Amino acid sequence: PAGEVLDGLGRPLHDLRISVTDRCNFRCTYCMPRDKFGRDHAFLAHDEILRYEEIARLAAVFAQLGVRKIRLTGGEPLMRKHLPRLVAMLAEIPGLELTLTTNGALLARHAADLKAAGLHRITVSLDALDDASFRRMSDAGCGVNEVLAGIDAAQAAGLPLKVNMVVRRGLNEDQILPLARHFRGSGHVLRFIEYMDVGSSNGWRMDEVFSAQEILACIGSEFPLEALDRPTPDAVAERWRYVDGGGEIGVIASVTRAFCHECSRLRMSPEGKLFTCLFASTGHDLRALLREGRTDAELAAWIGSVWHARTDRYSELRSSATAPSRKIEMSYIGG
Ligand code: GTP
Ligand code: 5AD
Ligand code: SF4
Ligand code: SF4
Repeated sequence: PAGEVLDGLGRPLHDLRISVTDRCNFRCTYCMPRDKFGRDHAFLAHDEILRYEEIARLAAVFAQLGVRKIRLTGGEPLMRKHLPRLVAMLAEIPGLELTLTTNGALLARHAADLKAAGLHRITVSLDALDDASFRRMSDAGCGVNEVLAGIDAAQAAGLPLKVNMVVRRGLNEDQILPLARHFRGSGHVLRFIEYMDVGSSNGWRMDEVFSAQEILACIGSEFPLEALDRPTPDAVAERWRYVDGGGEIGVIASVTRAFCHECSRLRMSPEGKLFTCLFASTGHDLRALLREGRTDAELAAWIGSVWHARTDRYSELRSSATAPSRKIEMSYIGG
């Protein structure tokens, strides 16, 4: 596209992650611990968050600026009413890959509608196969069978699927092999995520990070692996294949092998603030301009200038000296 922009470190803008709600039906201990996200937690009000018409208008502007992939996130995106309507609106914008990250609990109900609306693929978060372990990680009202049913429904609807597992030492590293065995041969790509210091609610400590190297050693002890190339330079996951033909896995090593140098991702919060990094402490208020009645060209110029000024590379610099005092929460910005 004519409007393609580079940031302060020469990185293009390709990938937009839109968080459609800060609410979630899970209380994963590493994301929305119940003592910090209880009954009295103040979530965003309905008139604060962007309407679907507003999101779709902005998405078309982003596409003009070179965005090729839009991922809907949350909180839990399926907590937002009539999400397939938004997917259908986004599907009208040419040249966009549309995907969604969900915890899967409501997926069985919505998978067919999402596919019919034009969603291209889907990512389901799943941190354990064992039900007790799953309940301990997610602190949700549902069991692992509901998520597995969501995965089956997505497959039946014809949505290509990835499964993301966050590994937190001392809590669920014993679930790496059970999940690997379960998804081997299924055609779904299982990806392991190093536990990150996102937000300020989870009390993250480095010794809770189960590293990519440890994850690969664990799987390799049972199933020999062979490295594959990254699909694109800006992909977050490193890829491996099972030597015996059981399929492919990924590792997202944002702590021990940071990938900021190719980071082409911009994030938009539910109320229309742009965050140029997962670890940014402040957002840029796009909603204000939108509701002031600016033209698409004005919005594009402003977004371009935000991107142009960007120099974030938090994960490559990670240290107490670089950590902002106030970090945004994962449940607000969606990973
Ligand atoms: P595809 O590869 O296109 O399927 O998507 P993706 O890997 O970009 O999306 P997904 O939501 O599955 O990303 C997986 C996880 O990687 C996220 O939930 C985050 O935990 C982590 N992640 C994604 N993008 C970034 C990033 O820019 N920085 C860091 N530090 N972590 C990221
Ligand atoms: N570190 C790594 N991944 C995280 N996620 C949420 N919090 C963290 C964290 N602190 C993951 C979720 C989901 C995705 C949106 O981000 O489990 O897979
Ligand atoms: Fe868990 Fe995702 Fe909900 Fe956070 S937003 S509590 S990681 S399901
Ligand atoms: Fe991109 Fe920031 Fe993540 Fe680095 S830490 S990959 S700059 S979002």
